[in-house]
Amino acid sequence: MSIHIVADTKSIAPTVLLPGDPLRARHIAQTYLTDVTQYNEIRGMFGYTGYWQGHRVSVQGTGMGMPSFSIYANELIDSYGAKRLVRVGTCGTMSEKLKLKDILIAQAADCDSAMNTSRFGSYQYAPTASFELLHRAYEHAKAAGIGFAVGNVFTSDQFYDMHGDQKKQIAQSVGTMAIDMETCELYTLAHLKGVEALTLLTVSDSLLTGEQVNPKERQSTFNAMVDIALLTLFS
Ligand code: HPA
Repeated sequence: MSIHIVADTKSIAPTVLLPGDPLRARHIAQTYLTDVTQYNEIRGMFGYTGYWQGHRVSVQGTGMGMPSFSIYANELIDSYGAKRLVRVGTCGTMSEKLKLKDILIAQAADCDSAMNTSRFGSYQYAPTASFELLHRAYEHAKAAGIGFAVGNVFTSDQFYDMHGDQKKQIAQSVGTMAIDMETCELYTLAHLKGVEALTLLTVSDSLLTGEQVNPKERQSTFNAMVDIALLTLFS
């Protein structure tokens, strides 16, 4: 057990899907997994373990933002032996090449968080995905014929940011395609701790037009992304 996940050590699989929203964790467990057990409910941050086509997999809510995400990822890796972590979340697009409802396979993460400054000082570390997982996700997304892109995400500390427009311009100038609030921490921890990580994001809103995907469509695009995540991990 750990501070924020109260479970038996062996009750979490080495492969973990990580949605931000704990209700999405429940949705994934109910929709995709068999023989499911719920191993965590502390703070309502549900975690489940079950089987997808015979493969043991866990799904753990992480909350929003790098600090919350970091707590769950640290504990999953250090206390429960997680080896492959795949974030399944949403992002806002900043690129004409990434449309609403498309999937972004996040290759690397830019960041404005103080977390990596505190870790690395002036050293500008580049947090990247596991190449093997990224490559497999690319092949599965291509085969599925869905709208997707491989590119960088800007992991922001602030959803409501008074300097948001300025940061968007910088991000666009280096070809960064979308914004989320967690991927930089996932990729950084994965490298520090020697595990594999990937982020898949469905585009829920546009920073170009202000459009948002409605909740019903969000669910179906989210499901398409979970399909890609599970295929990436197990086939
Ligand atoms: N900003 C930050 N994170 C997000 C967004 C956004 O517009 N959409 C989904 N996650």
